[in-house]
Amino acid sequence: MNIAVFVSGNGTNLQALIDAEKNGKLAGGRIVLIVSNKPKAFALERGRQAGIELFIQDDKGFSSREEYDKIVLKKLKEKNIELVVLAGFLRILSGIFIKEYEGRILNIHPAFLPSFKGAHAIRDAFQQGVKETGVTVHFVTNELDSGPIILQEAVPVEKDDTLESLEERIHAVEHRLYPEAVRLFVEGKLKKRS
Ligand code: GRF
Repeated sequence: MNIAVFVSGNGTNLQALIDAEKNGKLAGGRIVLIVSNKPKAFALERGRQAGIELFIQDDKGFSSREEYDKIVLKKLKEKNIELVVLAGFLRILSGIFIKEYEGRILNIHPAFLPSFKGAHAIRDAFQQGVKETGVTVHFVTNELDSGPIILQEAVPVEKDDTLESLEERIHAVEHRLYPEAVRLFVEGKLKKRS
């Protein structure tokens, strides 16, 4: 199964997926394309190191979400991409994209959804003083951070946690959970209910 991973930043989740594939843990899933809207994302360096094709398309200067997404969709078609894995991709996908890949787009979110949606989930949970937060892998739908949940793991907030120590533990869980979710999808064990 041909997989595209979408990134905008550091790419530690991408790295976890690359490592999982190398270790035979993606059940034959192959990362054949990395898509980035940020030309300077460090994730691209990781992709380069792994010898994976990069599709770098800056999103500056586009008049609509759709216009950008059409260019990306064309590339995905060329590469016969069957699964789209969002890994810190800081763009909202348009309806046309989601329709085209309905049930074949995964996202990872650093909180126990439906709690703490949005771009600052770890900080928001920490500042709220919750005793437990977590990590969620879910299907992507038109509603932000709200698609059907695939895997979830709680992460307790310790008394002496700082935002940084909490972030570190959450990321460690992400790096374990995301490859597992991708493997389940590749094995045909996940189906999004419509
Ligand atoms: C992760 O915390 C992920 O949950 C969120 O964005 C972050 C990406 O981190 N969607 P990285 O680029 O994979 O290091």
